[in-house]
Amino acid sequence: MKRLGIIGAMEVEVSLLREQLEAPSASQRAGMTFWSGLLRGMPVVIVPCGVGKVNAALCVQVMADLYGVTHVVNTGIAGSLDASLEIGEIVISSDVMYHDVQVGTIGNYPRGQVPGMDVRAFPVDRTLGALAARMCSEQGIAYRTGRIVSGDQFICDSEIKAEIARQCGGLCVEMEGAAIAHAAYRNRLPALVLRAISDKADDSAAMDYPTFEALAAERCAGLTMALAESLAKETDVL
Ligand code: ADE
Repeated sequence: MKRLGIIGAMEVEVSLLREQLEAPSASQRAGMTFWSGLLRGMPVVIVPCGVGKVNAALCVQVMADLYGVTHVVNTGIAGSLDASLEIGEIVISSDVMYHDVQVGTIGNYPRGQVPGMDVRAFPVDRTLGALAARMCSEQGIAYRTGRIVSGDQFICDSEIKAEIARQCGGLCVEMEGAAIAHAAYRNRLPALVLRAISDKADDSAAMDYPTFEALAAERCAGLTMALAESLAKETDVL
């Protein structure tokens, strides 16, 4: 049976989804609450995993080992790296990489490359990505598809932002997506990272973030719900 794992770092990123859960049941692991049930007819487990890469990776591993998830989606907010992205716009990942992995001094590793891994950017599932794009088009939601970069840092400085964009590329920056895609890759689980822009990751971020956090988080959760509904109807697409 297909079962979708839905991960958001913070409560605000998953509360809308959890409220819509039919026959919810909660269980605890690794200090996280795993909410199982049906979301618009799709079997899911929803978790607010906590901020950052370690929380995110742990959550995927528990989902894989104990909750039988077959697919993973990360929903949440991000700072834009691309000047053409507006606050509220959706980014659908084409791949995901770390901006804070830097081991170039002991080898010829480019920024983001984890030594020993056969990829620098972790792949995401194309079928899930195409379905998310279709949901956005059908609902008239502005979206872009491209690389998402992650690290254990809130980016709110124009120079740091510019350097991340120059070395990693990417449309937006956040704090969990690459760890989720990394853990999913190691477990051979198809994954997708979806984000809505809450700020521009520059000197205006400290002001914009609190203003737009909830709006952006709920917009992305709404898209994730539409995705779950569509997966429930078309189980053969997975
Ligand atoms: N999530 C939302 N905005 C962010 C930013 N500017 N940096 C890192 N993570 C974020």
